[in-house]
Amino acid sequence: MAPKSLVLAAVLLVAVAAGEVPRCAGLGASSTNASVVISGMVPCSTGNNINVATAPAPFPNATVQLQCNGRVTAGTTADGNGNFVISMPGASKDLLTAVMGNQCKVVVSTPLAACDASLAGAIGTLSSSLKLLGISTGGSGGGGGLDLGGIINVIVQILSGVLGGIVTLAPQAFSLV
Ligand SMILES: *[C@@H]1O[C@H](CO)[C@@H](O)[C@H](O)[C@H]1NC(C)=O
Ligand SMILES: *[C@@H]1O[C@H](CO)[C@@H](O)[C@H](O)[C@H]1NC(C)=O
Repeated sequence: MAPKSLVLAAVLLVAVAAGEVPRCAGLGASSTNASVVISGMVPCSTGNNINVATAPAPFPNATVQLQCNGRVTAGTTADGNGNFVISMPGASKDLLTAVMGNQCKVVVSTPLAACDASLAGAIGTLSSSLKLLGISTGGSGGGGGLDLGGIINVIVQILSGVLGGIVTLAPQAFSLV
């Protein structure tokens, strides 16, 4: 799915350059009718591009933050199985632009020692970029079947507030950085 989000980032740049999307969404952070939903599982593991499916264990109760352009934008706590959901209804244009532009990442602020005492010496923070799973707009089954032009159109309409929708993302793969 990485290529898809990269394509979207490129698409967004094109749209911004073409003036179809406000270049500066404004510090007022006007809201849209779109929700951004990020869900995934935090591994209790060190390494690069950790595959959660094969990680030795999940990270229960991990504190998970969404950081966009270096700022904490949202956060949540994983459940006892390391699963988390960050749901942001009425996402601002700034947030949507940052998410679509690959400027956001998920960061685990709880030290690894909390899930495995033997990892107390691990230096760094688990962090992952995001991948786009899909964009669904009221009723019409989502971005899956859209061609590039269709996706641009949906993004532009969501950013301009004409269209509501749910933008669904997941962590690409956590790395200890
Ligand atoms: C996670 O949090 C819940 C609720 O606070 C607690 O009952 C549970 O023991 C915690 N699990 C771990 C592994 O710390
Ligand atoms: C959200 O949708 C409602 C109708 O469903 C509309 O009246 C409102 O203007 C929309 N808000 C934004 C920010 O586009």
